[in-house]
Amino acid sequence: MTATSHSTRAHSFNAAAAQYAANRPSYPSALFDAIEDLAGRPLEGARVGDIGAGTGIATALLHARGADVIAVEPGDGMAAQLHCTLPRVPLVRGDGNALPLATDSVDFLTYAQAWHWTDPARSVPEAQRVLRPGGALALWWNTGPADVPWLSEQADRVRDHFGGEYKNQQGASDIRSETAFRGAPAAPAHAKRVVRWSRTVPLDTHLANIGSHSIFLVQGEGATNAFLAREREHLLEVFPDGMVEEVYDVLLIVATP
Ligand SMILES: C[S@@+](CC[C@H](N)C(=O)[O-])C[C@H]1O[C@@H](n2cnc3c(N)ncnc32)[C@H](O)[C@@H]1O
Repeated sequence: MTATSHSTRAHSFNAAAAQYAANRPSYPSALFDAIEDLAGRPLEGARVGDIGAGTGIATALLHARGADVIAVEPGDGMAAQLHCTLPRVPLVRGDGNALPLATDSVDFLTYAQAWHWTDPARSVPEAQRVLRPGGALALWWNTGPADVPWLSEQADRVRDHFGGEYKNQQGASDIRSETAFRGAPAAPAHAKRVVRWSRTVPLDTHLANIGSHSIFLVQGEGATNAFLAREREHLLEVFPDGMVEEVYDVLLIVATP
């Protein structure tokens, strides 16, 4: 992906913030148990910076877990949506490459589906600067497991639709612990865990969820709608009652920089 298309895609969510908030999946409570386990400290009472907070899906769960959370988000549309949903959670505009947080000020930095938009050469040193001694950097992504046949067939159709462009994309599903810190001055020590969960949603929600991914947002409405119309036909064969069981593997990386 070129620098321009990376930046265009990183900002593409803002025009679709309401669609994002209404249709994107959340995260299971087992994920937060795993974060605490790998970090060796509880979220309750911890000072947490949730970076690339978007519409606040993860921010809300961290807040509900008892964390003292501050949301950081670069985009206008996403920040406005977050403020609407979580008016009492502090929100600061900024990004992971230049955190608007004081040195030694947080116990956790969390990036839910957002780390891949940062430049690790800058975001790792920034994490090291703002984390208190013993603090943890937690990165996670909802990814589609390859062992679920309809999901792997759908992934093939997406790949065919985008061709070479898909191959070059730096999307969440391409991120693995081996590549997450590529380009960082010194990759921090980290541990990885996978948490499987699922949700059952109407087909329309599933299709809108797919359409809220940056690769679809930047290709334009016509081509996206054509893909989603074909996808509806495929999925009605698998889920004739129109309810789709989306299965996710949350890939979690917890680093102690
Ligand atoms: C896929 S959304 C994830 C939102 C939210 N954390 C969630 O779990 O739903 C990615 C978010 O990263 C933000 N973003 C883009 N560039 C960023 C950067 N350099 N640092 C931090 N966040 C960034 C986008 O504006 C967007 O809100």
